[in-house]
Amino acid sequence: MTLDERVDAASLQDLASFDPDEMVADLDQIVESPKVSLRDLYYRWERTNWSAQQLDFTADKTDWDALPSDVAERLLWVMSMFFHGEECVTATLAPWVDSAPSEEMQLFLATQLADEARHTVFFDRFFGEVIGASGDMRDRLEWCRPRVSAGFEKTFYEMLPSVAKEVRDHPRDLAVFARGVAMYHILLEGTLAVPGQKFILAFCRGRDVLPAFRSGFTAVARDESRHVGAGVRILQELIARDPSCIDAVQQLIREGLPHAIHQFQPPNADFTYLTVLGYDTVELFRFGLFSLNKRLRAAGVPFPKLDRVRLPVLEAEPTFPDRPLTAVQELMRPMRDQITPALVFQGLPMAFNPAGAKGLNGRYQFDITGEGGGTWVVAIKDGTCEIAAGPGDFDWRFELDTDTFIGMTTGDFMGQEAFMLGRVTVEGDPILGMAFDQAFTPSLE
Ligand SMILES: [Fe+2]
Ligand SMILES: [Fe+2]
Repeated sequence: MTLDERVDAASLQDLASFDPDEMVADLDQIVESPKVSLRDLYYRWERTNWSAQQLDFTADKTDWDALPSDVAERLLWVMSMFFHGEECVTATLAPWVDSAPSEEMQLFLATQLADEARHTVFFDRFFGEVIGASGDMRDRLEWCRPRVSAGFEKTFYEMLPSVAKEVRDHPRDLAVFARGVAMYHILLEGTLAVPGQKFILAFCRGRDVLPAFRSGFTAVARDESRHVGAGVRILQELIARDPSCIDAVQQLIREGLPHAIHQFQPPNADFTYLTVLGYDTVELFRFGLFSLNKRLRAAGVPFPKLDRVRLPVLEAEPTFPDRPLTAVQELMRPMRDQITPALVFQGLPMAFNPAGAKGLNGRYQFDITGEGGGTWVVAIKDGTCEIAAGPGDFDWRFELDTDTFIGMTTGDFMGQEAFMLGRVTVEGDPILGMAFDQAFTPSLE
């Protein structure tokens, strides 16, 4: 049996045995296979309907109560955002059904609306019966609302309703609809939800906990694969009918991606909220951005260049999980009092790893403010690395102060963490931005 046949045929109980990576592979397969039409996805929906009512959460309750309180608190943070997220997307999808520019799109979106309602009920049962939040669904949503992040509020309670209004006000307008699908299917489902699903399911599987949650959440992931796949299919069709839809999608991503990233700013600058599931901040960024890149590419949309992005500053003293220093950080740490940005850039070509930079061509500009600051451009091309004085053209730009730069160099925090703390401005192509580190990481021999 092929993977899609197995996923298709799996009962709710069977789903708990799937590896989370298989669910990601299933999503990739739907997205990448042009033969899978919206009608095929509609039929898949008929075949894979499941019941949130059927799950028995008795063992999950015992598991939840036995979790260490710090782990439970961190899981609750992520799950509160999923619960609110599912509720928001259920309440908001109707305009997409109403304004869809073709009947096939409308049919599929009608099934999706039923799915989102089921996901909300699934989380509502989990919050009531496992976590123990009392009252009705509204009470449970209110109870966990203080846990959702400021970036989440911005994305789901401001931007999503405002895009929904545009979609409602412009029925069958192709470019507006493309913008709506980019928001809903590509950014929220394809970029934000997929990494959360993968990492939460991997956590539950690794610890062998929360069996009913695993079944239900894997069924959610199976539904979401269909939704994201349909989103890509819809965008392909819209772009074929009107190429200006490409601009509409890119503009939406430019507006929405900073809020989506902001969502992961951890409470009290405590980065163990991000690492509790067993992955680190760098993996989270990489997986989310690469997911987005894959969906955009399949839809025929080049990844847009981002305007300057800087998150709000986190004032709290940060907490980081234990982790090993990189080879460069190890080398730099004892010399931190003597290090200046100029020295770091002078030495950077020696740390360059041509194997890690294979296929990478990019100009990285660093604008460093404060004592010893200045502008440097790191040009990586055809396996070589040169440092040039800037400013000039760049593919990706970092702007930060000397203290932050030295802190990153000597291993106080990683670049992504400094960004999450609101201490770095970035601009340009984030896919090239993500590749910078690997050009300076020794290959594992
Ligand atoms: Fe959902
Ligand atoms: Fe969905």
